[in-house]
Amino acid sequence: MANYEFSQVSGDRPCCRLSRKAQICLGVGLVLLIASVVIAVIFLWPRAPLVWKGNPTTKHFPEIFLGRCLVYTQILRPEMRDQDCKKILSTFKGAFVSKNPCNITREDYEPLVQLVTQTIPCDKTLFWSKSKHLAHEYTRVQGKMFTLEDTLLGYIADDLMWCGDPSTSDMNYDSCPHWSENCPDNPVSVFWKVISQKFAEAACGVVQVMLNGSLSEPFYRNSTFGSVEVFNLDPNKVHKLQAWVMHNIEADSSNSCSGSSINELKLIVQKRNMTFACQDNYRPVRFVQCVKNPEHASCS
Ligand SMILES: *[C@@H]1O[C@H](CO)[C@@H](O)[C@H](O)[C@H]1NC(C)=O
Ligand SMILES: *[C@@H]1O[C@H](CO)[C@@H](O)[C@H](O)[C@H]1NC(C)=O
Ligand SMILES: *[C@@H]1O[C@H](CO)[C@@H](O)[C@H](O)[C@H]1NC(C)=O
Ligand SMILES: *[C@@H]1O[C@H](CO)[C@@H](O)[C@H](O)[C@H]1NC(C)=O
Repeated sequence: MANYEFSQVSGDRPCCRLSRKAQICLGVGLVLLIASVVIAVIFLWPRAPLVWKGNPTTKHFPEIFLGRCLVYTQILRPEMRDQDCKKILSTFKGAFVSKNPCNITREDYEPLVQLVTQTIPCDKTLFWSKSKHLAHEYTRVQGKMFTLEDTLLGYIADDLMWCGDPSTSDMNYDSCPHWSENCPDNPVSVFWKVISQKFAEAACGVVQVMLNGSLSEPFYRNSTFGSVEVFNLDPNKVHKLQAWVMHNIEADSSNSCSGSSINELKLIVQKRNMTFACQDNYRPVRFVQCVKNPEHASCS
């Protein structure tokens, strides 16, 4: 049998009994197969994510994000219970995943700020600069005022870290850009710039800012307040900016309101056609400081 077959083949061209057409098909198929393997290797080979010097995306980011969103919308502010936290998370991620984390734009976060709208009542906006902790303690006790971190998006993102990478649609849990890496347009900085600008644009009536009187420059031009918020107040809606300059209770009070740093703020505000007022150690906030220092002279 074998001999018979062999002799029949050998009488033909070497190789096989395939027709010429089939041989061409096979050849073309082989070339296509090799080409697609090469293409697959080039495009699907897991590329290493970019390496940065800063802390990576906060561990359990999606769970923390969703948890905070649900706490805020279901428990703290039930008037916002119809917000879709899963959709907010996916829209948030859409701003920066699969992108170079040094190349994020304000427009990237536009779908997010369009999705999450929240109205802050007039006279209830509190900005802060270098006094975050005290400002949050105060709004928490006071109950009716809002810092940026008392709004939904600020509450969710407070103290979290996040970035993406061009090679993956996941977040980068290995590293993210550090402030020293000359990467100002990173996902975290751009996010805070966008939402603090919106927060300032929406403020109305009398707005307050808590500043840190224990620093040589209570008003610091490069802070978010000094570079974004104060310039985005709308003079048609905001008639007065009220500064509370809080000194550390131990260090106690020089009069910062009359200092040159606060005067710089005053000039900016007045030039933008709003009234400026300043108070050192605003009493209600001092009371909050006194909770931890009840024996201090300024607490009696
Ligand atoms: C940054 O993004 C812009 C627009 O999204 C794009 O045109 C540009 O090439 C990007 N640059 C880098 C370095 O990725
Ligand atoms: C003022 O800044 C100093 C130094 O950063 C800080 O220790 C202090 O807690 C701040 N004071 C207030 C009232 O936030
Ligand atoms: C403030 O920002 C400007 C411009 O971004 C920069 O040139 C300057 O060095 C900064 N000042 C401080 C004290 O960081
Ligand atoms: C402030 O008000 C004056 C007079 O009403 C007006 O001429 C000027 O353009 C205003 N400036 C700003 C920054 O709105």
